[in-house]
Amino acid sequence: MNYKKIMEDIYWVGKVDNRKVPFHRLILERGTTYNSYLLKTKLPTVIDTVDIEFSREYMENLTKAINPEELRYIVINHVEPDHSGALPALAARAKNANIVTTELGASLLKDMYKLHNRNFIIVRDGDELDIGGKTLKFYETPYLHTEETMVTYGVEDKVLFPCDIFSTHIASNELFNDLAEDEYVEDYKTYYKLIMSPHRLKVRDMLEKIKELDIKIIAPSHGYILRHNPQEFIRIYDELSDIKEEKMDKKVVVVYSTMTGNTAKLAARLEEGLKGAGVKTTVFDLKNAELAEVREKITEADGVLIGSSTRYADMVGNTENLLKSLENEEVKGKFGAAFGSFGWSGEAIMHIEDYLRKAGFTIIDNRFILHSSGVDTQVFPLRVKFAGEEGMKLAQKAGRIFGEMVLTH
Ligand SMILES: Cc1cc2nc3c(=O)[nH]c(=O)nc-3n(C[C@H](O)[C@H](O)[C@H](O)COP(=O)(O)O)c2cc1C
Ligand SMILES: [Fe+2]
Ligand SMILES: [Fe+2]
Repeated sequence: MNYKKIMEDIYWVGKVDNRKVPFHRLILERGTTYNSYLLKTKLPTVIDTVDIEFSREYMENLTKAINPEELRYIVINHVEPDHSGALPALAARAKNANIVTTELGASLLKDMYKLHNRNFIIVRDGDELDIGGKTLKFYETPYLHTEETMVTYGVEDKVLFPCDIFSTHIASNELFNDLAEDEYVEDYKTYYKLIMSPHRLKVRDMLEKIKELDIKIIAPSHGYILRHNPQEFIRIYDELSDIKEEKMDKKVVVVYSTMTGNTAKLAARLEEGLKGAGVKTTVFDLKNAELAEVREKITEADGVLIGSSTRYADMVGNTENLLKSLENEEVKGKFGAAFGSFGWSGEAIMHIEDYLRKAGFTIIDNRFILHSSGVDTQVFPLRVKFAGEEGMKLAQKAGRIFGEMVLTH
């Protein structure tokens, strides 16, 4: 296939990839497509490209549809190279094009493809761009499925270009879902489960944002263009990401020991973050709590955050007694993480983690977060020097992330 007209002045310029390629440590059994879109307006625009392996073929096809030098804008919704891969080749030929993306997107693209000398247009939530006869509107959709992601809405045509969101891994020469020869809704759901469900809370945010849009067509970057009943595909995301009932149930215990109150401040910020994520919290200062009661609450909870400051390279107060007693409790499947304020070495936090691991908790640390959500963040174990404001902010973020992990796993 070269390129295909899909609507007035809108062309599909993509690649059908029939290979069973490994992707995100999975094999794409039914292949996939990379859908790129060309909007042939007065200020011609490309929305997303194709996988890096098909750069040359893509440029050949695109050149049949338009002289790349005429392009004025290249919109990049998501930087992962299965969509931005042909950008270096395209940018080299499209000398007059500005690259339109989020702030983080721009910084990643510049570093990845050495595009520091290109002109970027940074867009924020709700920004519009006139492309000469059509208007594009942008919405930031962070973490769907990577942090820099956004979606693009064609205002006049009522078409949503959501890149990975609402996609399906399926290789089909038919572009539209109403022309699908085989069942594909299950594949659509499987895609959601694999790529989107770790970010269920962000899916809720995204659905809230696009609610105000009148969407006639969803033109994603993998699989079918959803022309028939697009609302049904939005509803499926709504249904699969609905966690209302689970939210009511999830509980996290925060327990800490402190000498001068710094670790108590961290606990308070963690609690705010946890509540922001929508989990129930119980907080104990071990100085005024009965170990038996704390233990009981922990056994009833889905996760526990245990904190202590460091005193002569060790934990303070009753922390170690509590941790020792947890070794005899049934904690399999519960999440645990360590936190604490410290001055220069902060050993207490490591000792807590060791105990939690030994007791059988699933440790939420940076490695766990990266593996389960693809988010590269350095929050756990949460080690904060004294009570600096940066550290306090980090604690709030950490609380939210811990809450999200508990809710979505
Ligand atoms: C007696 C004493 C010993 C300390 N020993 C250590 C230490 O070995 N390593 C370290 O990183 N910080 C050490 N600190 C610094 C504290 O961990 C730091 O002040 C921390 O912010 C206290 O938090 P808190 O108010 O929650 O107890 C020590 C502080 C005191 C008072
Ligand atoms: Fe992606
Ligand atoms: Fe993708």
